[in-house]
Amino acid sequence: MNIGQILQNAKNNMKRQEEALAAELLLSFLLNKKKEYLFLNPSEEIHQEQEKNFQALFKRFYQGEPLAYLTHHKEFFGLDFHVDKRVLIPRPETELLVEKVLELTKKTGDVRILDIGTGSGCIALSLAKNLPGAQITASDISTEALQVAALNRETHGLKDRVTLIESNLLQNIEEPFDIIVANLPYIGEKKFNFVAREVYKYEPHIALFGGDDGTFLYEQLFQQLKAKKWQPHFLLGEFGFLQGEKIRGLHAQYFPDEQLEIFQDYAKIERIFMILFET
Ligand SMILES: C[S@@+](CC[C@H](N)C(=O)[O-])C[C@H]1O[C@@H](n2cnc3c(N)ncnc32)[C@H](O)[C@@H]1O
Repeated sequence: MNIGQILQNAKNNMKRQEEALAAELLLSFLLNKKKEYLFLNPSEEIHQEQEKNFQALFKRFYQGEPLAYLTHHKEFFGLDFHVDKRVLIPRPETELLVEKVLELTKKTGDVRILDIGTGSGCIALSLAKNLPGAQITASDISTEALQVAALNRETHGLKDRVTLIESNLLQNIEEPFDIIVANLPYIGEKKFNFVAREVYKYEPHIALFGGDDGTFLYEQLFQQLKAKKWQPHFLLGEFGFLQGEKIRGLHAQYFPDEQLEIFQDYAKIERIFMILFET
């Protein structure tokens, strides 16, 4: 079979436009060529082995496995990240968290930034790329996630710029930071349990679930931060649909004297909190 026939066959069995795009992406991934190559060379013959590999990958996609885990690539903030089942696939809405930190650093200049729950390293490494003067530390409780972050750090040539630490929230963090940013797991196990079947099935649960109502880890973080001798200038975190009230409650309980701001994402859903500390 040739490239054009393989894609046509795949398309004939599809119901959604998204699946047609996936077929193109998977084939270009397998052939290690850009997507344009497929359109320019439809009559190129494909080895039987490659065709079999394509069918196997496409079946996995069809059964719900995320495309990013099949190709091991995900773009975030204009950078390419390796992803596999050890880490959450970076989501587009998290780019807003990076943008907010970049806005803040315009005012503060060179800063020490801590990214808690770094996963693939997408937040910390995007910040490091955009802030050549910043000192950046990225932490995670998962050894496996830190292996992926280290791989991405290497690919992006940021080994000297980003320190990786294994830590349960702030437990192993001694030195002070100016900005703490976190996208902690925030899906509730009982309340706010908004999780797609594929996400539940394929993505690491340690990256998804944050206690009964999803805010357990933010509460723990607030408690640990309150007990530190230092406080950052800013603490920013991403949270889930309808959790804004709970975040406001935690702020009132732990940091009532500090200013809180809540930002919406592009879908007009409350998504990010920022606490400004009077330090
Ligand atoms: C929602 S994922 C975010 C990953 C990445 N920062 C992103 O935005 O795509 C949450 C991450 O927090 C980590 N995590 C879970 N519990 C943690 C804890 N107690 N302390 C530190 N990290 C934790 C998970 O391993 C996971 O990598």
